[in-house]
This record gives sequence, structure tokens and C-alpha cells, in this order.
Amino acid sequence: MPQSAPHRRSLPLLGQLGGGRSRQTCRFRCGDACFHDAPNTSDNTYFGEVAATALSRRNMLRAGAVGAGATAAAAGLGGLAPALADNHRGRGNPRLRFEGLQPGTSDAVEIPDGYEQRVVVRWGDPVLPEAPEFDFTAQTAEAQAKQFGYNCDFVGFQPLGRDRGLLWVNHEYTNEALMFEGYTDGNDADPEQIRIAMAAHGGSVVEIRREFEGRGRGRGRRTGGWRLSRGRRRFNRRITASTPMELTGPAAGDELLRTEADSEGTRVLGMLNNCAGGTTPWGTILTCEENYNQYFVGGEDAPEESKPALARYGIATEGDTRADNRRFDRVDERFDLSRHPNEANRFGYVVEIDPYDPDSTPKKHTMLGRIKHEGANIRITRDGRVAVYMGDDERFDYIYKFVSERRYRRGSRRGNSRVLESGTLYVAKLRGDSPEKEFDGSGKLPSDGAFDGWGEWIPLASHKESFVEGFTVAEVLVHTRLAADKAGATKMDRPEDIEASPVTGKIYCALTNNSAREPGQADEPNPRGPNRYGHILEITERHNDAAATRFRWDVPIVCGDPEDPATYFAGFDKSEVTAVSSPDNLTFDGHGNLWISTDGMAWGNDGLFAVPVEGRHKGHLTMFARVPNGAECCGPLITEDQKTVFIAPQHPGDGGSYEEPQSTWPDHEGFPRPSVVSIWHGRGKDIGS
Ligand code: FEO
Ligand code: CA
Ligand code: CA
Repeated sequence: MPQSAPHRRSLPLLGQLGGGRSRQTCRFRCGDACFHDAPNTSDNTYFGEVAATALSRRNMLRAGAVGAGATAAAAGLGGLAPALADNHRGRGNPRLRFEGLQPGTSDAVEIPDGYEQRVVVRWGDPVLPEAPEFDFTAQTAEAQAKQFGYNCDFVGFQPLGRDRGLLWVNHEYTNEALMFEGYTDGNDADPEQIRIAMAAHGGSVVEIRREFEGRGRGRGRRTGGWRLSRGRRRFNRRITASTPMELTGPAAGDELLRTEADSEGTRVLGMLNNCAGGTTPWGTILTCEENYNQYFVGGEDAPEESKPALARYGIATEGDTRADNRRFDRVDERFDLSRHPNEANRFGYVVEIDPYDPDSTPKKHTMLGRIKHEGANIRITRDGRVAVYMGDDERFDYIYKFVSERRYRRGSRRGNSRVLESGTLYVAKLRGDSPEKEFDGSGKLPSDGAFDGWGEWIPLASHKESFVEGFTVAEVLVHTRLAADKAGATKMDRPEDIEASPVTGKIYCALTNNSAREPGQADEPNPRGPNRYGHILEITERHNDAAATRFRWDVPIVCGDPEDPATYFAGFDKSEVTAVSSPDNLTFDGHGNLWISTDGMAWGNDGLFAVPVEGRHKGHLTMFARVPNGAECCGPLITEDQKTVFIAPQHPGDGGSYEEPQSTWPDHEGFPRPSVVSIWHGRGKDIGS
């Protein structure tokens, strides 16, 4: 069945700021980030010479040397094999065959004909064996800490056999206006409501199983939806804003991380605002702390010397910093920076969790830097080390890469347990190959027909030494944004998820939008100002090696309404392409097609889109799923067998309240319940093909 040409005439524009995002989502999720000035006030060029940085050539050579020893060691051990085995598992048939959906609104998950869906797990479902059943009107913090949390984002899956598996889900944030009757703000909230919200943050591990039913049963067809295992819960776990965690890596124990409650600077309670993430080839989960700044109050009374770093991370340091906040400090004083100014330094990390060991201590890896981490995805280098790609989701912030010192030991959780603790952290500098004057913010293609160029990974620090003048290793890893400012990184349009194609190894980064980029600040990698609809960046590492320090880049997709001349879909016939805006989370199918979920569709509800990025159909973008009113489409994840896609419609009903719901998905009992959904083809076909 061919993809249909979507109807695109007279698309109603729902919003201007970051596509069609609800004001309430801005308040509860990001602490109204887009309503404040962008915190990057560095005078970094928007477009310029790589050489014009604080970085010396000597430091570049020294940073290269950290990897060189590992390269030599790997060579003697036949290091190429694991790289190829773990990076290139795809089948390379870039063609999508499903009836694409139209932009629109409904209080449901909409999917193409021939597909089926089932809710796997919802807010409040029992996770731990002793958890009570969910009761909206009688919720307690104790119950919530044992039940599935709120607003799901990243979804990870680790198999336990063919039809059983462990699902990991991030609970990024809470919308108290939808969780509680009559909620106004944290100042007036009942302390138990604050404790419930803290327990609804974090993440969950739940065991799930696939059930075969209806048309999926019989004739050898292995197809069906996933549901919670009610009996088996051995691995089930809740992580909350209070779960003990270990700080690892070179900055652990540093003065910047010590507090009154933790004089060693190695142990922190909880994780906050975990957005996207990744799974490691050794079976653990990486979950990333993003807009943690909004949970802290008292910045105006923090020590003067700490204020510039707090401000660079979007933490308010003047005015009334307690207004409109969740006020976690009312039940736990460590969130008050006037009393505990270092506590904020202990959030903003990539957290590694072993889903197979419910007693394991989650690790916050300082070696991967402290930013508003969106996601973290791994590619193995040619010599068998581990590269992690990461975006810092803020207007005008940067793209990062970490390359480990140690080699990846195939499949071994124990053997890789310290691989993310030593290596080199880099930040991306991009340079275009077309004249600067060809970029006026309109998004018009330059005369060479492509937004493209080359780039460099600038080393910031290894576990042994800092490459940024005036910064110690610990300062680079805790005040990473400030170090990257000084190194001259390229200001990007909100780098969200970044992930490698399993077929080609090319890296794709979603740049969601940037309402604050002025026309005069447009450059070749960020060619629109303002950038309302976002774009996709493609990076090809030199020699296709994830350890490379140089790369080529281009922009295959400039999002928006295809009828807008400032959009581009890799040269594909735009009359056959669907409108799309605010690309956010990414994943790939086994054929190497890119799947993009949106956070702020300007025309109707958010959705999940798929697009080939190689071959004849490159750029033919189509909508596969649409999420309920008020929601963004998180997840997404396609299982290794290609038979299931999991999505997590986050914040259904945002913009409404308990009293006036805008969504009651999925159960239509008067209030929404953020949930994870499995989607499969009724006749067992691979997802999308
Ligand atoms: Fe939580 Fe950057 O999205
Ligand atoms: Ca060019
Ligand atoms: Ca996201």
C-alpha cells in the first residue's frame, strides 16, 4: 500500500512559540524557559572559524593522545569486530509502506489502517508487589512511590526472552493542575501533594509480556500487544526524586559537589526532569536530567560567586525565585539554594541504571558533563571504545560527544560498569561551506544547494586533564556550559535527541526550534531566524569512526509546512510530504529509516513521523501516529524484532485542569493518565514496512 499524499491546504496554525506548545507545558516542564532570556550570553560566534577558540593546538594533540593508547591496545586485540557487530545491525531497505495520517486533533492515539494498539502501563498502575491500586481521590506519596509515575518520556526495552521484557520509562515531570483538584501553585500546595509530585518523578522498570490475540494469533504469526506482567515483578522498580544515587567520574567528591548532607560529594538523592535517554549495548539504561533548574529556589540569596554558574543553567538568581515553583524546598530544604548552594550542581547528569538488578545504585556520570541533558546514545568506535552523543536542550546551546578511554567488552554489564567514568568530553564546532552572506534567516538554500559543511569535536576535558584554560577537570564537568562557551562551541537551535543510524553509522540530531534566533544570527547549520519549526542535522564522522575529531555535516530536513519555501525534505517532492514541526525524540527502525516524534506540532496534535534518510525515498516524511489532545509524542522505540513500536504520549490534557479537562485519555474517566502504548501490525508485519 503506497504512502498517501497528505492533504495540506489551509493548515490551521495552533501556536507561535515553539510550534503549538501549551503554556501549561512550558510552566510545568521547562520552568517557562522560553519566556526568559536564553541563558547563553557568551559572545561565541554564530558562524566562524574553528581556530578562533581558547583551544591550543597543543591541547588538541594531547586530547588525541588519550585515545591513542586505547587504539594501540585495541589493535592488538582485533578491535574492529565489536564495532561492526554493534553498530551495523540493520538490513538496509529504506522504504516505508503505510497509509500516512493527516494533521488533526482528537483525544486518542491515531494509527494507520492495519495497525493495532494497546496501553501497556498508565500513571498510578502498581509497579512494586505491595503497591495499592490507583485511587485518584485518595492518592498518597507512599502509594505513588510504588506506582507508575507521571509524564512518561524516554522508553527503553531490554528483552527477557522473545515475549517478555523489561520496560524502562522516564517520568520527566508532573502537572499538578491535572493531578490534584483545585491546585494553584507550590506555595499553596498541601505538603503531601508536594511529596506525591516528588514520588511521581524519576523512572520505572516494569516487566511486560506480549500477548497474542485476534488476528495476530495462529499460522505462526508472532504478533500482539504488550501488557504489564501482574505476576512476575522481580525486576520491577521505582526511582524517584529521593532515590539514593552515586556520583562517579573525575568530579565525584569535588568541593563543588559537597553539601551539608553529603560532605564527601559522592552521594545524591534522586534525579529530576529525566527527558530522553538511551540503552547501552551492555544492557543498562541511560536516563538524562534536563530542566532540573526549575526545582531550585533561593537563588537570589545564594553566594554571589556561585550566581554566574547558576544563571548559565537557567536558575533564577534575582527577583522572587519562589513564585510559581513546585516548592520542593517546603518538604526538603536541600532545594533551597540560599541554604545549600551546591545542591544544584548535583543535578544535570546522565544517569546509568541497571534494570536487571533492582538493588543496584543508579550512577550519575560526571565524565559526561553537566548540561540540560536531553538524551545519550552510544556508538562503538572502530577500535572498540564507547562514544556517547548528547544534546543540551536550550536555545543557543551545544552538541556534545564523549569517547571512553576503555574498550567496550561485548555484552558484559560487569565488564562495562566503569566505561563511562574515564575518557574525553568534546563539544561540537560547526562551519559552513557557503558564504556567510547567503544566510539571511529566511531559510533559502544557499547557491551550492545544501546547508552543509564540516566540523570539529573540541576536547573540553579528559579524566586526567582540562583542555579549557582556567578550568579544572571538575569545573569542566560541573560547569560544562561555561567551559564550552570558552572553547567556542557553535550555538545551536535547541539540540534534542541525537542518535546514530544502525545501518550507516551517520548521526542525526533533532534541533527542535529557536524562537529567539534573530535573522542576523542565522548561519548555515541553523539557517532560519526565528526558527519556529526546527530541523534535522546529519553528521558523518571522518572515516565513519565515532572516535573521530572531525566530521562532515548537512541538514537533510528543514521542518514546517511543505508549501512554505523555507522548508526542505532532502530534495523529495514536497507535494507528497507531511507538515511537521518541533522534532524532538528520535529512533531508527532496522532498515535505517529515521523516526521522529514531535513536541509542538503547529498544525494539530503532535505525532510520530517516519522518513527514509537514504536511497530513492530519502526525505519522504509521513505521519505514523498522532497523540491525544495536549500531549507530545515521547518514546519512541522500535523493538529489535521490528514488530512493536512503543510511544509515550506525554502530558495529555496540558492546557486544561482537573476541573476543566482537555483530555481524559486513555480511560475517559474524567482525567488523563500519562501512559505508554504499544503499536503493532495486525498481520505481524515489521513496523512501517
Ligand atoms: Fe524534555 Fe528537551 O525535551
Ligand atoms: Ca553549503
Ligand atoms: Ca525531548
